[in-house]
Amino acid sequence: MGEVPVTWPAHGLVLRTPSLVLRGMSERDAEALAAVVPEDVEHDPSFPDLTSGQKVLRQYWRAVATWTTDSWELPFVVLRDDLPIGLQALEGKDFRARRTVDTASWLVPSARGRGNGKQMRSAVLSLAFEHLGAAVAVSEAWEDNASSLGVSRALGYRDNGVDVHAGGRRMQRLLLERWEPPFPVQVEGLEGCFVLLGL
Ligand SMILES: CC(C)(COP(=O)(O)OP(=O)(O)OC[C@H]1O[C@@H](n2cnc3c(N)ncnc32)[C@H](O)[C@@H]1OP(=O)(O)O)[C@@H](O)C(=O)NCCC(=O)NCCS
Repeated sequence: MGEVPVTWPAHGLVLRTPSLVLRGMSERDAEALAAVVPEDVEHDPSFPDLTSGQKVLRQYWRAVATWTTDSWELPFVVLRDDLPIGLQALEGKDFRARRTVDTASWLVPSARGRGNGKQMRSAVLSLAFEHLGAAVAVSEAWEDNASSLGVSRALGYRDNGVDVHAGGRRMQRLLLERWEPPFPVQVEGLEGCFVLLGL
């Protein structure tokens, strides 16, 4: 069978860091990630009885189906040595006016604690700040999520307050207003995405 043509522009977007490739997630990538997603990853709480894998698929379809220029979520499959090891998403709400992005991510346990989290977050921050005109990135993590907070703090985010949730659980907010990339990130296939972003 021949090469399948790229018809959704985000599927042709590729980011390269020193050791990772991030590719705009396709349905086939979502299925591959659904097969490896670990149980400790938090998902949208709707449909609590779906399996984690089904939640990954639902989130992918939701992102594609609800995309607008003013509210978008761009998920990437993260590949290391051609194998899917996790997911990195970049989100923009009212992006053209606010120039603010949010991020979400997870890795399979064997890929954690080795700098992959920093590399994949850096990839989407370089895309946002250097190519899309972002001015601010925000993030949030439960106060005891040392690895997620570790990625944010290592990349220059500063603490920006705490939200208290049910049961007194505390969510740390973080803010990044100046992006200094720790390494260059190669971006391919962005041209076709501007129509999706209204840029
Ligand atoms: C969050 C996650 C993507 C981070 O990726 P990672 O590859 O584990 O993180 P890195 O190895 O890039 O580490 C980044 C920084 O955090 C620090 N760090 C990582 N894990 C840590 C831990 N368990 N305790 C303390 N610090 C930690 C690292 O030392 C590093 O900081 P440094 O560069 O100053 O040394 C990954 O751990 C994961 O998938 N966790 C489960 C899902 C999750 O919590 N997602 C985020 C929801 S908000």
